[in-house]
Amino acid sequence: MFRVSHIYVGVLALVLFCLFSCAHGWDYCQEHWCSRPALQHVACNNNGSLGAKCKSGARLIPMSADMQQFIVRQVNLYRNQVASGAFRKWPPAERMATVQWDPELAKLAELAVKQCHLATDNCRNTRRFKHVGQIVGHVIFSANRFSQRQLIGHKIYNWFNQYKKATAGLGLGLRKDITSFRQLIQERATHMGCGVLQQQRHRWQQQFIVCNFARQNVHHEPAYAIGHKAAAGCQTGTNPQFPNLCAVEEPFDVNAVDRYVPKPTLLIKMKYSEDGMESISAKSRPKRA
Ligand SMILES: *[C@@H]1O[C@H](CO)[C@@H](O)[C@H](O)[C@H]1NC(C)=O
Repeated sequence: MFRVSHIYVGVLALVLFCLFSCAHGWDYCQEHWCSRPALQHVACNNNGSLGAKCKSGARLIPMSADMQQFIVRQVNLYRNQVASGAFRKWPPAERMATVQWDPELAKLAELAVKQCHLATDNCRNTRRFKHVGQIVGHVIFSANRFSQRQLIGHKIYNWFNQYKKATAGLGLGLRKDITSFRQLIQERATHMGCGVLQQQRHRWQQQFIVCNFARQNVHHEPAYAIGHKAAAGCQTGTNPQFPNLCAVEEPFDVNAVDRYVPKPTLLIKMKYSEDGMESISAKSRPKRA
């Protein structure tokens, strides 16, 4: 009996170890996940050291299960609100996903936040998510006055607050920056993960936060599809906590390319030379209507 339980614990430990490292053990440099070769993946040749812009004493804030839940809940609250159609400017959302925490997106956000600056990284796509979006922010505050949770909550609130500048069409670009708001309500952002860092800056404390989302916004694509009623298009029902969002089980095609722009067809030519080596050339040509 004793021996069996030892074996059982051993196997369980191996499975758990694999969940955390086997799944993430591939090389981010080798995979061709970034849209242009010049765009380097945030995790490629990154040993996780702090960036040159960081102050001494910069430290990551651990994302406890509690904190993860808090962040996801705040984001879902805002999504649920917009999806309901309560903001009269925006009609109800046909099929908006419930956001869940994803450890890999969080790990990559952590690498980005360790740069201690307010710019997005170049690329952070994963095997599961090919169009990962990112929001970056910071808050400056006097020490010991606010909890980490308050600061993070405040930042997410700020991002959401861009809605005040947004037009009915939710157009990107133009003069007003609403990219963070638009990312928060992207219907296919099924997963998210954040990294948070704190450092001292003169007399002040500074908190950086980077959040990655399973699906980024695409320029020509609406942030969400409009429904006659919120969640009317959900195939698996609605989320009991957030009734204007689909249930967590709802399947979404997070990797689909822009549905609203004609896709060029990809032509692939293969040549076989005498010694068996092959060369491949790919070329895209716009599809004829
Ligand atoms: C990690 O990478 C940085 C920057 O590329 C380098 O300066 C540092 O020496 C590396 N640290 C380790 C422990 O390899």
